[in-house]
Amino acid sequence: MTEPPVKVGVIGCGHISGTYVSVMKTFGILDVAACADLDLARARARAAEFGVPRACRVEELLADPAIQIVVNLTIPRAHGEVALAALEAGKCVYNEKPLAVSRAEGHRLVEMARQRGLLVGCAPDTFLGAGLQTCRKVIDDGQIGEPVAATAFMMSHGHETWHPDPAFYYQPGGGPMFDMGPYYLTALVSLIGPVRRVTGATRITFPERTITSQPHYGETIAVKTATHVAGLMDFANGAIGTIITTFDVWASSLPPIEIYGTQGSLSVPDPNGFGGPVRVQRLGELGAWREVPLTHAYRGNRGIGVADMAYALRARRLPRASGEIAYHVLDVMQAFEDSSREGRHIELTSTCRRPAPLPLGDTEKGLGRHGSSN
Ligand SMILES: NC(=O)c1ccc[n+]([C@@H]2O[C@H](COP(=O)([O-])OP(=O)(O)OC[C@H]3O[C@@H](n4cnc5c(N)ncnc54)[C@H](O)[C@@H]3O)[C@@H](O)[C@H]2O)c1
Repeated sequence: MTEPPVKVGVIGCGHISGTYVSVMKTFGILDVAACADLDLARARARAAEFGVPRACRVEELLADPAIQIVVNLTIPRAHGEVALAALEAGKCVYNEKPLAVSRAEGHRLVEMARQRGLLVGCAPDTFLGAGLQTCRKVIDDGQIGEPVAATAFMMSHGHETWHPDPAFYYQPGGGPMFDMGPYYLTALVSLIGPVRRVTGATRITFPERTITSQPHYGETIAVKTATHVAGLMDFANGAIGTIITTFDVWASSLPPIEIYGTQGSLSVPDPNGFGGPVRVQRLGELGAWREVPLTHAYRGNRGIGVADMAYALRARRLPRASGEIAYHVLDVMQAFEDSSREGRHIELTSTCRRPAPLPLGDTEKGLGRHGSSN
């Protein structure tokens, strides 16, 4: 007899929730059973839009014994509180990034889940996409030799021109590193492994931002978090990474991620997406990038990490987009700020295992077939 799908409840029915609900509905393992929001009208609107059977208040969703995984799509400063409430209610939880806005909160989450035998997962899941999985295979197959160094650049001028409610991007837990850093850092950890030591320099360039999107057009935001973050990372395997994330730059032509190996270089696609292109230059063929055909299938959108977590729950394995990795990424992000403020290198206390690569072939079958994440 086939097992019934895993019932999922969504908390936080804002901008990104539509993407999640529509993608989660494409995975056979997931049954999106309910959605909730502080603003019940938003939950009702999402439920109606996607045919989710129940829209309710957060407490009602948490009290529903049928819900096994809570997908927490609230704003960053609510991630910790909502996730702890979900764990207290006996549910596994998958957070949008960042895992939490402080190490203490992130640690509490991961510890409580461990003690209660529950799973914590966390976005981003873009490293499960065809582009980044192909990069993983290029590296694991030794096509560029041993990774020596990496660069990662997220150059932009912020989100107040398009996001309907952009204030949170300029509060602690927002900023370019906490907002976009998880994509770049999770990709690097998946490709190279954990980080050992961090050095950073940060600044706030524009202390006030003016919103030019609707419905808050013309309102100003007082900036309370660094908006330009430059960092160095010594990876545990000896590779050295350089990263810049910024909301202070109008134009740039720097590539999102490159990885430099002893035998060649790898050009990694935008880690905020699931596709390619993946390009390499190897010794003996230097001078022009060669595009590598994608080896993996998934070119969908956010939600594959939740599906992997549902299979992990069934198989009693770790999810690939795990709390362990997300906590390590949070530790790295926080360490850039600590290093800049304290004027010293920061030796990290956290580490993580590289998530297991996805098997080749059909994505959902692969998630179900693969019994271990490490
Ligand atoms: N917007 C994007 O393109 C995007 C992309 C990827 C990831 N994310 C991440 O997704 C998360 C949500 O982003 P968004 O753009 O959808 O934000 P949003 O402001 O559009 O939506 C957040 C929703 O959460 C609700 N909420 C806030 N606190 C809550 C609480 N304590 N309990 C219940 N509901 C609560 C709000 O009422 C709102 O409806 C953020 O962590 C963001 O970093 C956003």
